[in-house]
Amino acid sequence: MKPLEQHPSWLKFCEAAEAAPINNNPLRVIEAAGLSVDLTGQAYSEALQSAGERLLADRQFTYWREALLSGAVVNVTENRAAWHSMLRKPAPLPEVTAERSRLNEFIRQADSERRWRNIIHIGIGGSDWGVRLTQAAFGYAGTWRRVRFASNIDGHSLAGAMAGLDPKETLIVIASKSFTTAETLQNAEQARQWLLAAGINDIGQHVAAITSRPDLAQQWGVAPSHIFTMWDWVGGRFSLWSSVSLTTGLAVSVDVVAGMQAGAAAMDAHFASAPLAKNAPVAMALAGIVNRSVLNYGSLNIAPYDARLGNLVPYLQQLEMESLGKSVDTDGNPVAVPTGPVVWGMPGTDGQHTFFQWLHQGSDGAPVDFIVCQTADHTWADHHRLLLANCLAQREALMTGKSYEEALDECRRSGLEADQAQWLAKHRVHPGGRPTSLIVLPRLSPYTLGALLALYEHKVFVQGVIWGINPFDQWGVEYGKVLADGINQELRDGKPTKNHDASTAYWLEQFVKGS
Ligand code: F6P
Repeated sequence: MKPLEQHPSWLKFCEAAEAAPINNNPLRVIEAAGLSVDLTGQAYSEALQSAGERLLADRQFTYWREALLSGAVVNVTENRAAWHSMLRKPAPLPEVTAERSRLNEFIRQADSERRWRNIIHIGIGGSDWGVRLTQAAFGYAGTWRRVRFASNIDGHSLAGAMAGLDPKETLIVIASKSFTTAETLQNAEQARQWLLAAGINDIGQHVAAITSRPDLAQQWGVAPSHIFTMWDWVGGRFSLWSSVSLTTGLAVSVDVVAGMQAGAAAMDAHFASAPLAKNAPVAMALAGIVNRSVLNYGSLNIAPYDARLGNLVPYLQQLEMESLGKSVDTDGNPVAVPTGPVVWGMPGTDGQHTFFQWLHQGSDGAPVDFIVCQTADHTWADHHRLLLANCLAQREALMTGKSYEEALDECRRSGLEADQAQWLAKHRVHPGGRPTSLIVLPRLSPYTLGALLALYEHKVFVQGVIWGINPFDQWGVEYGKVLADGINQELRDGKPTKNHDASTAYWLEQFVKGS
């Protein structure tokens, strides 16, 4: 594929983006799978829209979208499909239907016997974040089963997860697509010791595994009836849609899993068929490309105004940064423009009291995606009104800002002397014009959360297509894993080598001496 910067349409897109206003744009809201995506606060003009559509055509967007949704190879460096959309189809492949039924039956049986009061979910990255997100979103008020997570190799993580739980009442869920991830296997082994120490001999009955390597799970000792499939054609960071949802089903309910699949499938249908100007993932992708590659914003802030979405930011960090943290295109050429942004944030209103000052008046600023539910699921109207007010107010301030004249007028009216007012006014100016989006969910339901996650997935995909990078591999992470294996061996053998940079070699020696 031609490098991006060699397309005349890219240059036209950049010109149109630089000329497009951000402030005072007419209302632009796209309805998609039950969500309202308000892009009024993003750079926009008709010229930019047509330049964007031209660019998409040049980057063969329709071809790639079809390839993605039909399960063709889109992960070219690993020669694999990225067919997560298949897992949420109302009528998926027969093997997917069969596995869904087996999983649901497993959960139904466990529920009917009131088995496993506790679950320790062991997995990392895509085998962890989606489950944590869903658990917090729909289990926030507590569930009959206590769910704990152990992802990090730091033993404190697993020790904390086990603390106070009776092993006899606990199911260990090992989620690992590869069943080779060092952290997960180490934590799983420790969990096995914990079960054995409690006198449990039928380990297989206290463990379930979700993996695309059932052979390895069986070798580990998991009973075949407790092993659920994760298909090779689904990337790790999309595994929320696979049998990884076992923990969600056991902890909250299978209806949550089904509802999320339905919402995501609705977003898939919207992505597949809505015209480009009304296609929410496409419109968000174009806005993101403008912000990152034309306006040079290095990051994207995610501000979910919903305490239940506390794990949305790390979930999206993996989705966006593992997918778009690349700087060569699929032909191996450097991409000439900045690609995937840093993604960061936390739920509002906590974020307001943590870093919003930087967003409002810092020298760099960042585009912000505000996410809020129109209706809450508690009955405290004042709380929700205040939450909505804060969300809208922060966004308005970032969009429209406050000029020096306005600030001066404010200072004068507060009774300050002229020179004091002029001095203070300079501190109270808000530049405004910071790009923002507002995504409104009617309420937080499995359906709307599913749609929201699929919205971001497809946005990321479209950006990958435009930049020409493969959003489905993660060679950087893989390299780190290989190095960690080697270093681990040197530490274990107590034989640090000199085959490292000066600092790593020094600390290896120190750690061996100190152990
Ligand atoms: O972080 C790299 C990664 O490969 C992710 O893509 C994946 O979600 C995670 O590791 C866990 O991998 P696995 O499910 O194979 O244990």
